[in-house]
Amino acid sequence: MSVRFRPYEAADFSLVSDFLNQHYQPGSRDGNWLQPAWEYMHTHPTLDESALDRIRIWEEAGEIVAVAHYEGRLGEAFFQVHPGYNHLKAEMLDHAEANLCGETEEGERYLRAFINDFDPAFEAIAEARGYAVVERFARPLSEFPIPNPFPEIELPEGFRLKSLADENDLRKIHRVLWRGFNHPGEPPEDELEDRRKMQSGPNFRKDLTIVVEAPTGDFVSFCGMWYVGANKLAYVEPVATDPDYRRMGLGKAAVLEGIRRCGEEGAVVAYVGSYQEFYLTMGFRKLFDCRCWEKRF
Ligand SMILES: CC(C)(COP(=O)(O)OP(=O)(O)OC[C@H]1O[C@@H](n2cnc3c(N)ncnc32)[C@H](O)[C@@H]1OP(=O)(O)O)[C@@H](O)C(=O)NCCC(=O)NCCS
Repeated sequence: MSVRFRPYEAADFSLVSDFLNQHYQPGSRDGNWLQPAWEYMHTHPTLDESALDRIRIWEEAGEIVAVAHYEGRLGEAFFQVHPGYNHLKAEMLDHAEANLCGETEEGERYLRAFINDFDPAFEAIAEARGYAVVERFARPLSEFPIPNPFPEIELPEGFRLKSLADENDLRKIHRVLWRGFNHPGEPPEDELEDRRKMQSGPNFRKDLTIVVEAPTGDFVSFCGMWYVGANKLAYVEPVATDPDYRRMGLGKAAVLEGIRRCGEEGAVVAYVGSYQEFYLTMGFRKLFDCRCWEKRF
């Protein structure tokens, strides 16, 4: 059997999910994305869906062995590879250069290839082709071993932890995410559909998506949480606290509550794509960076 590549089709979403789950190794040492990141990408409002057919899938004997894709828009390339097929990486970069390049306002083509900092062979390929690291675009991954029993979660008086299974009010969700990600003022009304889309993934769980309700009834902190039962892992994304309510312990409480619930279901570890102080003080520790290698053509 020989390895063949082909364009991505909608039906591949779940096949790639299975591929990522199947090759996961503790500590994310397989180097591939965690499945929830793949799902989050597909339900994110800013995904450029018009270019999904530029994603390439490599298969052998009907099994996926590698995927080269962008996350939100063209100009980025991420590489998911079966551990027995690392030799495909140079060819995958060829395809990323042919299909996934972005264009600057001046009309210059560029590619940002994301390569783990524990993959020197792939880094050497990028370097030899003239790519250079842009430190500020690095994607870190941190992990949190889930304690059992789970310590009590503290909240200031008058605030309540809830999940979206208790109250799935899209306006309140939109407001906390809008303000929490530092957009000024009140959110535009016409973006509620985007919030609905973020709940459309097959593994989205209202009961694991945690909010903190203020005495006013507003949601003021939000933590999205994903559970992968097959690999006993939790994945944190996205997290935000309304600027009027920061440094009160609300974000920490929301994240810990989501992780606690995943722990109850069997998760032993939680991951987040960040190493902000906020996560480190809570008990996360950084595992590695997926570094950004950029080239202009
Ligand atoms: C990061 C964020 C979610 C923190 O929310 P929060 O509710 O203010 O955080 P908490 O009050 O629970 O913080 C708990 C601890 O984390 C640490 N921490 C929180 N924010 C911090 C900051 N800006 N700088 C340094 N440490 C911070 C502190 O140790 C804090 O404890 P302390 O206030 O007693 O010192 C919030 O600042 C935010 O929404 N930022 C914008 C969106 C974002 O960056 N999201 C995370 C992306 S993955």
